[in-house]
Amino acid sequence: MLQFEEKSSGGMGAVPGLQAGAPLFAGVASTPAPAPAPADDNAASRRVNVADKRIINGQTDVNQLVPFKYKWAWEKYLSACANHWMPQEIQMSRDIELWKNPNGLTDDERRLVKRNLGFFVTADSLAANNIVLGTYRHITAPECRQYLLRQAFEEAIHTHAYQYIVESLQLDEGEVFNAYREIPSIRDKDEFLIPFIDTLTDPAFKTGTLESDQKLLKSLIVFACVMEGLFFYVGFTQILALGRQNKMTGAAEQYQYILRDESMHCNFGIDLINTIKMENPRLWTPEFREEIRVIMSKAVELEYRYAEDTMPRGVLGMNAAMFKEYLRFIANRRCQQIGLDVMYEGATNPFPWMAEMIDLKKEKNFFETRVTEYQTGGALSWD
Ligand SMILES: [Fe+2]
Ligand SMILES: [Fe+2]
Repeated sequence: MLQFEEKSSGGMGAVPGLQAGAPLFAGVASTPAPAPAPADDNAASRRVNVADKRIINGQTDVNQLVPFKYKWAWEKYLSACANHWMPQEIQMSRDIELWKNPNGLTDDERRLVKRNLGFFVTADSLAANNIVLGTYRHITAPECRQYLLRQAFEEAIHTHAYQYIVESLQLDEGEVFNAYREIPSIRDKDEFLIPFIDTLTDPAFKTGTLESDQKLLKSLIVFACVMEGLFFYVGFTQILALGRQNKMTGAAEQYQYILRDESMHCNFGIDLINTIKMENPRLWTPEFREEIRVIMSKAVELEYRYAEDTMPRGVLGMNAAMFKEYLRFIANRRCQQIGLDVMYEGATNPFPWMAEMIDLKKEKNFFETRVTEYQTGGALSWD
């Protein structure tokens, strides 16, 4: 058993990955605990007081998951684990047959699939790197870190799923994986995101001042409300619309599970943002709110351009103009979720069926019928 009490000090240099500013044993005020606290007055040996935990700039031990403070994060971690899935479990044979059939899909449908994957094959790597190399370091609540670890693995599964579709259809990997460099509508979205990711991944970046805490909050909003909450929605809707017409049903099923994961990522991010706001009300200034509104309106514009580029003509009963309305509807929702006024008065959802997809219940199809015995490399024996 690991005996923290035996260590003489809480020197954070000895703890790899510990968030800067969050010492292993912080000098927090102790409060009456149900179990006896260590007798000495060394901060290193004090127990974590739940009231001292903070999402950012916390001074409590990040290695100690309990006592829980942010139960919503722990619940989301449990729920995400309960919905585990892997791309290879989904049948792709009908998609392969359809893709190979010269009359299987129209040219517009093929362009849509390729441009769609062109964004997603790298998007989830950006998301994973943002979590692992950026966000994680700056979050001092271990319950939230636990969810972020799960989320990072899900991003890896999503990248795997997109790669698996590309491989199954035998698409030109060079074309699809370089789309984020070569296709302007995709490159513009990524270039918009990268400065916000760079903020968090910069090794010199530290929270603790008004300016740096606002930068962190802004990056978290961009990540949850723009990237996961808006930039994925044209793409998801397109592939799911194909699936609704009984085309590319394997890819559509993969996207359904990804969509459900992403909507939980988005909700987690929003809970994280709102809790940071509550714990640090000074960050939410009128200037800051205005900055977020400018970011949201730019994001809607970029995603709309992507919609136009992937659908130069109407396809599958959809067209870019419908997406303009949809993106405005989603942007309003994201604003409301983080406590901002709606930006596009009266915008409505032209794709109500998407709401059902997001709420997909775990008992539906795949989760009842899939193979549940993963290869785990042999069972442990305690005999
Ligand atoms: Fe993802
Ligand atoms: Fe995500």
